[in-house]
Amino acid sequence: MRILILLLLTVFVSAHADIDAATGLTKAPGWEQVRIHCGGCHSHAMITQQHADRETWLGMIRWMQATQNLWQFTPEVEAEILDYLSTNYPPRQELRRAPLPAALMPPENLAQQQKQEMSE
Ligand code: HEC
Repeated sequence: MRILILLLLTVFVSAHADIDAATGLTKAPGWEQVRIHCGGCHSHAMITQQHADRETWLGMIRWMQATQNLWQFTPEVEAEILDYLSTNYPPRQELRRAPLPAALMPPENLAQQQKQEMSE
């Protein structure tokens, strides 16, 4: 009986990922770097809403560094941040629908047809 309770407790705890109440970030290795470096200009929700692979995350960081005054990171810190982001906020494949079959696509001249209709 005691083992069963322990087992249920383990399942319950592991099913509830540990989320930091202040930032909404998942507490996992590297999360404090993201808390420290990524909350100064916008809410951490900007991050938790985003899902991307490592390369795309790096692209966003480079874009912010190039245009938004985001500071440079040491290679170690950058790797930690990218590991954290790509592990905890990976692309959401399951939410992407399959492409439409060609038969269901609008005709290529649809926009033009609509323009004509509107000017008539
Ligand atoms: C120096 C300021 C600054 C810091 C620090 C900063 N960002 Fe940003 N970030 C911005 C600005 C400005 C935008 C654009 C906001 C908007 O579009 O409203 C942005 C946008 C974003 C977006 C949305 C991009 C999109 O395409 O929609 C994400 C995701 C993001 N930041 C993640 C991060 C991460 C991760 C970090 C830490 C590594 C970080 N930010 C740190 C300034 C910053």
